[in-house]
Amino acid sequence: MIIGRRRLAAAMACATLPAGAQGRDGLRAIAARHGITFGAAASTRWLGRDGAYDAALAREAAILVPEGEGKWDSLQPRQGQFTLRELEPILDFAARHAQSVRGHTLGWHTAMPRWVWAALDGAPAARAAALLEAHVAGVLALTRGRIADWDVVNEAIADPDLLPNQDLRDGIWWRSLGEGWIDLAFRTARAADPASRLVINDYGLEADWPRAAEKRARMLRLLRGLLARGVPVQAIGLQAHMPLDQPFAPAPLAHFLREVRSLGLEVLLTELDVIEPAGSPLREEDIPARDAAVAERAHAVVSTALASGCRMVLTWGLADPHSWLNAWAPARRADGAVVRALPLDAAYRRKPFWHALAQAFAGAPLHGR
Ligand code: XIL
Repeated sequence: MIIGRRRLAAAMACATLPAGAQGRDGLRAIAARHGITFGAAASTRWLGRDGAYDAALAREAAILVPEGEGKWDSLQPRQGQFTLRELEPILDFAARHAQSVRGHTLGWHTAMPRWVWAALDGAPAARAAALLEAHVAGVLALTRGRIADWDVVNEAIADPDLLPNQDLRDGIWWRSLGEGWIDLAFRTARAADPASRLVINDYGLEADWPRAAEKRARMLRLLRGLLARGVPVQAIGLQAHMPLDQPFAPAPLAHFLREVRSLGLEVLLTELDVIEPAGSPLREEDIPARDAAVAERAHAVVSTALASGCRMVLTWGLADPHSWLNAWAPARRADGAVVRALPLDAAYRRKPFWHALAQAFAGAPLHGR
């Protein structure tokens, strides 16, 4: 191939620049160059109300996931009444910006309206199963063809410190249906929407400490059982909410992901953010060091996942002020300051986290920034 001298010079300049330092491209374009889909959680609390928010989402994300608008209470607020009223603005925004949308989430132990809790209270298994089936089928009948990737089951694994002797969370569906609730959710989803990728999503699987190791073991036992029963689970979503006070090392996560991939399943990072210890210093002069630590953790987990075959990464929001961690009690700053958990700051400026993602997508080591 003949390549003009100017183009060659430009290409060489790009090759020597750290990935992501190439001007105006968002993470969306940078990831795409490496065969990776990058996206973020979107919320109608800001979408369509804040031009800078919309612009950042359009520039940075190739895929959106509704932060709350795809949960049960949004989609079936009253029994039998399925609605995309809250989700539609996100679907519409995505269509206008050539983005795809992930569905989150069909089966979960929370975010259900009061009528579900009342209907499940003391209900026989058959009635609980009918409710779950009706929800999954009713939602997918509306989203089929518009959403091609669904978290069918969210947070089904029990936290080992809370339930040392039981693999599955004692949530409402488990209490009503036992482990079969997971089979039912996936089988119903497959029947209702043959084309969507069906995902099991969970947190607490990434760190290098005994609790995460046990959670990984529980997840693998569950996945092997599901697959042995022919349950149509196709991918695992690692939420990747990364607490800095939990140690991280690539090897245990890489080993787990190898096992998952050997089962024929795909791997996604679905809700990445970095959680600083709530008591860490808040002085202005500490921000560079804090941001560097956050970026380092993000780079480590994303690089490990990508090296293990992951091809889709989403952060749980884009800019710090919108992070759910500002409201979540264990992470919320005591003095009300904004967390620094996400790739962009309050003014939508790129933080070291943003550059860490760009570098990880390029397969590059972390450059200081
Ligand atoms: C959170 C949202 O970010 C909050 O706005 C909401 O109040 C509660 O849920 N794991 C998940 C997400 O799977 O659905 C959660 O989202 C964050 C943790």
